[in-house]
Parts: sequence; C-alpha cells; structure tokens
Amino acid sequence: MGLLYICFSVIVLTLYHGVVVNSGITSSFVRQEAKSVDMPFTSDVFIHPPGYNAPQQVHITQGDHVGRAVIVSWVTQDEPGSSTVVYWADKSHQKQNATGRITTYKYYNYTSGFIHHSIIKNLEFDTKYHYEVGTGHTTRRFWFMTPPAVGPDVPYTFGLMGDLGQTYDSNLTLTHYEMNPVKGQAVLFVGDLSYADHYTFHDNSRWDSWGRFAERSTAYQPWIWTAGNHELDYEPSIGETKPFKPFLHRYRTPFRSSGSTEPLWYSIKRASAYVIVLSSYSAYGMYTPQYQWLLEEFPKVNRSETPWLIVLMHSPWYNSNSYHFMEGETMRVMFEPWFVQYKVDLVFAGHVHAYERSERISNIAYNIVNGECTPVVDQSAPVYITIGDGGNIEGLANNMTEPQPKYSAYREASFGHATLEIKNRTHAYYNWHRNSDGYAVRADSVMFFNRYWHPKDDSTSKT
Ligand SMILES: *[C@@H]1O[C@H](CO)[C@@H](O)[C@H](O)[C@H]1NC(C)=O
Ligand SMILES: *[C@@H]1O[C@H](CO)[C@@H](O)[C@H](O)[C@H]1NC(C)=O
Ligand SMILES: *[C@@H]1O[C@H](CO)[C@@H](O)[C@H](O)[C@H]1NC(C)=O
Ligand SMILES: *[C@@H]1O[C@H](CO)[C@@H](O)[C@H](O)[C@H]1NC(C)=O
Ligand SMILES: *[C@@H]1O[C@H](CO)[C@@H](O)[C@H](O)[C@H]1NC(C)=O
Ligand SMILES: *[C@@H]1O[C@H](CO)[C@@H](O)[C@H](O)[C@H]1NC(C)=O
Ligand SMILES: [Fe+2]
Repeated sequence: MGLLYICFSVIVLTLYHGVVVNSGITSSFVRQEAKSVDMPFTSDVFIHPPGYNAPQQVHITQGDHVGRAVIVSWVTQDEPGSSTVVYWADKSHQKQNATGRITTYKYYNYTSGFIHHSIIKNLEFDTKYHYEVGTGHTTRRFWFMTPPAVGPDVPYTFGLMGDLGQTYDSNLTLTHYEMNPVKGQAVLFVGDLSYADHYTFHDNSRWDSWGRFAERSTAYQPWIWTAGNHELDYEPSIGETKPFKPFLHRYRTPFRSSGSTEPLWYSIKRASAYVIVLSSYSAYGMYTPQYQWLLEEFPKVNRSETPWLIVLMHSPWYNSNSYHFMEGETMRVMFEPWFVQYKVDLVFAGHVHAYERSERISNIAYNIVNGECTPVVDQSAPVYITIGDGGNIEGLANNMTEPQPKYSAYREASFGHATLEIKNRTHAYYNWHRNSDGYAVRADSVMFFNRYWHPKDDSTSKT
C-alpha cells in the first residue's frame, strides 16, 4: 500500500511537471461513459433506520459565525416525536439538552415527514461531542468535532463536492471522499443535492432518500450548503411557485449570524478560513438584498484573523465547457471587481458536471466602450474551480469549447471531489481526485499561496 502510494505520487509529480511546462491542459484521461442512474429506493444506502418513528436523514451544519454552534436536523416519518438533542463532550458525562422546532411542508401531492432543526450553542472549540436524537429504543447516537478557534495559522482541511445526486456514481464520490487519506473535516458543498426534480412532480421522496444516503457523512461533519438550480423546485404547472421550498424546509444555514436576511447567502468563519456563500438563483443586481449584503460583507473580512477568503456559488463565472456556457456571466459582471479588490483566494462553483481549474485571471477592465473584454492574468484575482462532478443523474458534461482558453489551467469531464488542506496563513494544498482512480491518487494538485500574506505567482501554466 505504502509503495503503491509512492508510485502514484511519482506519477502525479511527473504529470504535474507536465502541467508547468505546457499551457492549460485538457486531460486526455479516458473514462467509460456509462449513463449515471439513480440507485433504486431498495438500495442499501437508502435503508430506513429500524423502529417506529426512528430519526432519519440526520445532518449537521455550522450554527453560528465562528464554529461554536451546530445545527442538528433530522426527520421522523410517523409522528412529530421529540425535537430534543442530547449531547455531551467526549471527556464529560454531563449531558445537556437542546430542543428545537419541527416543520413540515407539502409539495403537490407529497407531504413531508416531521423535519426537526435544533441548535446546540456555546460549544468548546476543537472538542469531540457525542449527540443523540430520538427516544427510547429508536434513539440514535452520532458525534462531531468542533473546529479549532478562529485564527490565522490554524490548519484545517475542507472537502469539496457539488452536484452530487443519488446515482451509483454519487455513491462512489462520497465513498472516495470518505476513503481519501486526506481527511476532510467539513464539506463545502457547492449546490445541487438530490435531483428530486428529475422525477415527475419532483417526487420529494427523492429528497428523503438523498437525506438517508448522505447521512453517513452529514451526521458526523458539517456540510456548508450552497443552493443550486436543482434546489429551486419551481413548477408553476403543478402550483408550486415558491422557489426553494423543499430545500429551505430541510436544510438550515446560520445566515442571521452574518447579518444576512435570507438563508441562501451568508458567511462563516472556520479555523483560518472565511467562507462566503452566494446564491446564483436569487437577485444580485444593484440594490437587491444579496448585493447590499455582499457590499457590506467584504470590508468585514479581517485577513489577520482569517487569511483564507473563499467564496462558494453554484453557477461558475469562468467555465470553458459548452454546458452552461456563460450562465454565470451576469453575476460576474456585478461582483468580480469586489473579488479582485478584496483579494479573494479561491472561488468554488458547481453546476457544470465536470472539473475545471482556472489560473488567476480577471476581466474587469471592460467598461462598455473600451473593448477590453478578454480575461487577463491578475495576481489579485481568485482561482476559479468548478467541482460540479459529484455524479448525478444528468451524467458528465463532456463537450468542451475549443480551443481551451488560456485562463483554463486544467479541465476534465470525470466524476470526483477535491480537498483543500490549509496549512497556515500562506500555504494551502489543494487536490482534485477522480473516482476512477485509487483512493490516494491525486489527479490535479496545486499549492495555493494566500493572496493577502503571500501573493506570489502560483500559476501552473506558462502564459
Ligand atoms: C433531556 O432530554 C431527554 C430526552 O428527551 C429527557 O429524558 C431528559 O429528561 C431531558 N433532560 C433535561 C435536563 O431536560
Ligand atoms: C401523486 O400523484 C401521482 C400521479 O397522479 C401518483 O402516481 C402518485 O402516487 C401520487 N403520490 C402520492 C404520494 O399520492
Ligand atoms: C454505496 O457505497 C457503500 C460504501 O462503499 C457500499 O457499502 C454500498 O454497497 C454502495 N451502495 C450502492 C447501492 O452502490
Ligand atoms: C483583525 O484581527 C486581528 C487578529 O485577531 C486583531 O488584532 C485586529 O484588531 C483585527 N482588526 C480589526 C480592524 O478588527
Ligand atoms: C458541443 O458544443 C458545441 C458548441 O456549443 C456545439 O456546436 C456542438 O453541437 C456540441 N456537440 C455535442 C455532441 O453536443
Ligand atoms: C506554511 O506551510 C508551508 C507548507 O506546509 C510551509 O512550507 C511553510 O514553511 C509554512 N510557513 C510557516 C511560517 O510555518
Ligand atoms: Fe446545477
């Protein structure tokens, strides 16, 4: 195993050198192109926990701005049951309770189970907690780690996934994330969860099955949620005109603690990172709530406290795939000057079912009369990464625009996930991982340099 790992590393390093001498590469990796199909309801990953009214679809997310609170959510199918979470620190026997609220919703002819959301507050940093939901012999126990206190040199590892869905490929992506020797401590999820809207009347039992599928990760580490287009569930033909209804009932975000007025855009601090989540499918024009919030948000980021400034959104701004080409353009026009001004380190998006990494580029000189509308190398700009390759039912987006634009450093239509290992205030090691490789293989690796503390050129292509 160790030897195998070393061999793989050598190959990866060799490839990596290949990247340095060439300009951007379109990977020639050959993969099988079987259509992704959803796992049937009878699959092992969708099993209901045994017992009457047993809690299912357990998931956690950060519950405040700094990581001392956790929102615990779950569903009971038969009756409301208890909304109490019992929790205790690993090294303590003192159990505490947090009681939350229950919500339900209807979608066309579907009626949801009882959706519980309870928030645990005032947790200690960097501590393992156990928690239990449910009552009597259907009580289920899980655990999580709180992040270390926010600080500039605190190492922390994020997992990155998007457009996951619930196919056999989705299961492989999640398995590869779990089995990756690089252990993610929280997931930055860039949107498109269940793809329930693929079914007639958006069969919302596919929201439930997705919750049961993802539980093996979401119950143990926080997933930071971004809304995608498959969260809209907007279907006027069946009277469903309230966008994001199932998603907003099922998934919570700590939006109020960052001064946001909507769950769809917000920010968190976690260890040495400041993560801003945007909504590609909410208004962002001038004077809109999201615009106004972001305008006030960027100046609040203190890079002496959180050196790494990361933005999540669903629809990518820089995408050289012909799928969803230029769909992110209107938001780019609105916000890109701020991203450069505030030296955002990394932008992660999904939507396109492939992988792509850009060089540091911007396209902000254009002013409608000067004709300067070509992206240029810009060391103050973020790297843009599209990681919408979770493996959902729509399959791969394997038709790229040709030729590959100069700004595109690496692109490939394969399913996978990524990890971002923040080492300290200057260095973060990033790896993209494809499902068809062994668990330890890194298909695209970069050491990113922080734009505030170490704004050196970290590009991988010759431009
Ligand atoms: C905490 O919740 C459990 C389970 O709901 C209950 O049995 C217990 O009495 C509660 N304890 C306190 C102190 O409220
Ligand atoms: C909803 O309606 C469709 C079509 O009439 C039907 O197939 C389905 O079983 C219904 N679902 C529920 C939960 O009633
Ligand atoms: C999903 O992946 C898990 C972990 O690898 C495996 O145990 C399970 O059998 C898989 N289920 C399906 C339906 O592929
Ligand atoms: C920024 O954070 C540092 C480190 O926590 C702190 O010393 C400094 O006062 C903060 N600056 C502002 C303007 O809040
Ligand atoms: C690939 O994209 C190009 C440009 O959008 C389009 O003209 C072409 O028809 C597409 N090919 C396939 C096989 O979808
Ligand atoms: C930051 O991390 C990088 C990569 O691990 C390392 O090379 C560098 O020495 C570290 N910087 C400091 C100040 O420790
Ligand atoms: Fe999407």
